[in-house]
Amino acid sequence: MYKEELTSDQLLTIIFDYMAKIVSETELKKVLVLMANMGREMILSDRCTVWLIDEVRGELYTTVAHGVDEIRIPYGTGLAGTAIATGESIIIKDAYNDPRHNRDNDLRTGYHTKSIITVPFRNNDGEIIGAYQAVNKMTKVDYFTERDLELLTLAASYAGKSLESVMLHQEIVDTQREIIATMGEIGEIRSKETGNHVKRVAEYSYVLALGLGMDEAEAQVLRTVSPMHDIGKVAIPDAVLNKPGKLTDEEYDIIKSHTKIGYQLLKGSKRKLLSAAAIVAGQHHEKWDGGGYPNGLSGEDIHIYGRITAVADVFDALSAERVYKPAWPLEKIEALFREERGRHFDPDVVDVFFRELPKLVEIRDRLTDVGEASH
Ligand code: C2E
Ligand code: SIN
Ligand code: SIN
Ligand code: FE
Ligand code: FE
Repeated sequence: MYKEELTSDQLLTIIFDYMAKIVSETELKKVLVLMANMGREMILSDRCTVWLIDEVRGELYTTVAHGVDEIRIPYGTGLAGTAIATGESIIIKDAYNDPRHNRDNDLRTGYHTKSIITVPFRNNDGEIIGAYQAVNKMTKVDYFTERDLELLTLAASYAGKSLESVMLHQEIVDTQREIIATMGEIGEIRSKETGNHVKRVAEYSYVLALGLGMDEAEAQVLRTVSPMHDIGKVAIPDAVLNKPGKLTDEEYDIIKSHTKIGYQLLKGSKRKLLSAAAIVAGQHHEKWDGGGYPNGLSGEDIHIYGRITAVADVFDALSAERVYKPAWPLEKIEALFREERGRHFDPDVVDVFFRELPKLVEIRDRLTDVGEASH
């Protein structure tokens, strides 16, 4: 039942295997799991966690702990906090004899923590960004040694650099998401479209994309950017945009410019999410038969993101009350999509629309705005 210490060959195999996986992983959570598993295997501990610093909240947190959910502790507390604050590694034979150990978790879970090793790790600039912590040595000698300290320090220095680049990447993606969500909300407020319009369009687009067989990552991109489709409406005068009843031809031309304006606002970016948002803003009123605007594109010359958002947008516009029209009953909406299959809309997207209709209606009802007309 005890484990034997590893040979150098076994150690090298573990390091090579894990590092190959870690450097090619772009998702933070997965890097943390790989790091924890690598640490655990290298030093034969029962559990291993990776602690990171949450500077905004002044806390340390771990999202992966073998058999343990996310834990948060105040910065500077506990063994992990001490190691991170001082930059010193800590080895303990019996945690219950050490006042820095926090027993709350054991008391909650019934787990018995005995030996612990905690090693802080640094980014490329030498700043401490987290700590490795392993619990309970599984060999006959039931505590961690100087050799374990060396090995975990080695693991930390290898993995720390990949970890930092993944965290930076995540930061960029999160920032883009926030900006896009904020811009979508601005467009929404401006056109007085009731609260959840952009959220519903996001969810419908996502369901339609997956239904078309698009892969998860690409469907997620569309979900993030489709709420931006009407961002160009920020530049349309209020008197036109929120006019009750029919528009004159001139007024309708002004409104139609929201597609060009949205595209112009976003097209300059090389960023993946923002350039996808530009496509959706520019193409969501194009029609499969070429009769749409602004460019009269047809068929597959319209990006699949534009073809999907067109269906999601019209479904939502018809389902909801607008200043210029009441909400339509579902039968009338279905009739329109049957009629417009292959005219306004990509026939494949319409087929998925009908296949997924129960799910779409469920989303619509869940995200119905308070005070919005019922269907
Ligand atoms: P929206 O309200 O988000 O509508 C999006 C699209 O849903 C419309 O694009 C159209 O394809 C479809 N749709 C909405 N209501 C109806 C309807 O009653 N019948 C049919 N068959 N389709 C409908 P469209 O036509 O290019 O309009 C773009 C935007 O122009 C609309 O966005 C809305 O903001 C504005 N708009 C269009 N018609 C009027 C109107 O009569 N009065 C006012 N105040 N605004 C209008
Ligand atoms: C900590 O580092 O304080 C949490 C883990 C423990 O003490 O067992
Ligand atoms: C897709 O791109 O996943 C759907 C195929 C298409 O309609 O272009
Ligand atoms: Fe639009
Ligand atoms: Fe819209």
